[in-house]
Amino acid sequence: MRFALIAFAATFLSTIGGAVAVEEGKGPSKVCTLRPLGGGLDDTDQVEAAIAKCGHFGTTIFGPGEYNITRKMTWDLVSSRVDLHGYLSFKPDIEYWLNASNTYRVIFLQNQASWFVVTGHDFVIDAHASGGINGNGQPWWSYFATRVREDGDGRPIAFTLSNVTRAVVRDFRIEAQPFWCNIVADSSEVTYDGMYCNATNQDPTYAGINIVPNTDGFDSYRSDKITLLRWDNSTNISVKDAICRGGNGIAFGSVGQYVQFNDIIDNVYMENLKIIRQDLQIQPNHHQGVYFKSWPGSVDGVPPVGGGGAGGYVSNVVTKNVTLEGVIVPVHLYQTNGGHAGDAPSKLQFSNLSFVDWTGFSEGSNQCSSAAPCPGMNFENFNIAVENGATPTYTCINVVSETGLPGCEVIGSA
Ligand SMILES: *[C@@H]1O[C@H](CO)[C@@H](O)[C@H](O)[C@H]1NC(C)=O
Ligand SMILES: *[C@@H]1O[C@H](CO)[C@@H](O)[C@H](O)[C@H]1NC(C)=O
Ligand SMILES: *[C@@H]1O[C@H](CO)[C@@H](O)[C@H](O)[C@H]1NC(C)=O
Ligand SMILES: *[C@@H]1O[C@H](CO)[C@@H](O)[C@H](O)[C@H]1NC(C)=O
Ligand SMILES: *[C@@H]1O[C@H](CO)[C@@H](O)[C@H](O)[C@H]1NC(C)=O
Ligand SMILES: *[C@@H]1O[C@H](CO)[C@@H](O)[C@H](O)[C@H]1NC(C)=O
Ligand SMILES: *[C@@H]1O[C@H](CO)[C@@H](O)[C@H](O)[C@H]1NC(C)=O
Ligand SMILES: *[C@@H]1O[C@H](CO)[C@@H](O)[C@H](O)[C@H]1NC(C)=O
Repeated sequence: MRFALIAFAATFLSTIGGAVAVEEGKGPSKVCTLRPLGGGLDDTDQVEAAIAKCGHFGTTIFGPGEYNITRKMTWDLVSSRVDLHGYLSFKPDIEYWLNASNTYRVIFLQNQASWFVVTGHDFVIDAHASGGINGNGQPWWSYFATRVREDGDGRPIAFTLSNVTRAVVRDFRIEAQPFWCNIVADSSEVTYDGMYCNATNQDPTYAGINIVPNTDGFDSYRSDKITLLRWDNSTNISVKDAICRGGNGIAFGSVGQYVQFNDIIDNVYMENLKIIRQDLQIQPNHHQGVYFKSWPGSVDGVPPVGGGGAGGYVSNVVTKNVTLEGVIVPVHLYQTNGGHAGDAPSKLQFSNLSFVDWTGFSEGSNQCSSAAPCPGMNFENFNIAVENGATPTYTCINVVSETGLPGCEVIGSA
């Protein structure tokens, strides 16, 4: 998980597979309302009390403003609704949050930390595009600008859904996440409809330097019927009308990190995407449009930092109507993430990937593993120009049965 979306704004308008069972306006009778205490007071107690009272078969209404949250918090929601018109503002106390006893470790993947976990079933959280989470990330980014970052080092994920069934998160804004913005894990039938995440450095000391790596827009793990980006063992995903401004692009992977698991990504449909490179002074490292990556076939150390050697597959991914503005490599597939020279090739196979109706600028590169060459690479109406007017070049290594990529230079085995 070295790569991340740095800034990501998206509107997801999709219903996937089974319909979400929560019907708004039907049912809950208990209502709890609250407003920020203000004046430097701590809101954590009143927020927990409201959710304890109305989180099951009730409605909790947060008035506008900032709610001062000073410790880790779990919401268990059952057949209920939360209207969040304000922001849960997590105190920017880096030392406090980096102490492992002050966060949860419900996310198995890379043992990441969470400061806010929502669990349960049949609920709606509607933040009305006027609330959500304030991660107060600037002090974090500045702090880590001069320190080593490692996966699993305790930087907290802003918004964690864990063990959730049938839920909707709507018009929810996450400002300045210190680390990953969203994760959904061990969950099914979750719709994120109208999400916003924005991690933009404003510290002039670091202008033009990427100090916000790992601020992924979305991650998912072991989940089915979800609308989001970047996942392991996530199936039946659909994404529509998403805009990605800056960051590293849309990632599939890194898969194959845990040798004891097969990672599976299957049936992903993404339509109407716009991937826009930001001002280089703000975000210097936006190289890829959509990219696919696996760890190599050898095991190099252990997660969260090392790994590799796992099997599985990534298949049946369709990306349609994609517009690129200024990214360097539109589609990139590589199977050497986190690896070293001499590693065994990955056995995790990428197949049946379709790229339909792409427009914009750049070149392309697909470096499939020699141990599991990629079949079914389908490019249809793929019109990517190079910014200086040169002929675009495409590199294909260990690609079998490719269609539609003009002059794809198939270079033997890697
Ligand atoms: C949040 O509450 C703590 C007290 O626990 C206080 O020290 C801090 O100043 C408050 N922060 C804000 C932004 O009000
Ligand atoms: C971590 O937090 C716990 C609980 O607040 C505290 O007992 C412990 O001393 C802290 N550890 C460090 C290294 O600060
Ligand atoms: C997941 O949630 C269900 C109820 O929604 C509960 O019965 C189960 O124990 C939870 N599983 C875990 C691992 O927390
Ligand atoms: C992201 O946040 C920065 C800094 O607050 C702001 O200037 C920018 O407009 C925001 N981007 C979007 C897409 O809202
Ligand atoms: C994906 O959805 C289809 C149709 O609902 C279902 O048959 C299949 O089991 C789902 N895949 C997984 C891995 O859950
Ligand atoms: C993913 O699913 C496959 C097949 O069910 C399973 O073998 C593997 O252990 C799962 N991986 C994880 C990380 O749960
Ligand atoms: C393609 O996506 C764009 C948004 O990026 C949308 O405005 C346009 O209508 C889509 N075109 C088609 C044919 O769906
Ligand atoms: C890829 O597509 C082919 C042809 O439709 C199909 O036979 C094959 O099962 C697909 N592979 C996977 C892994 O789904």
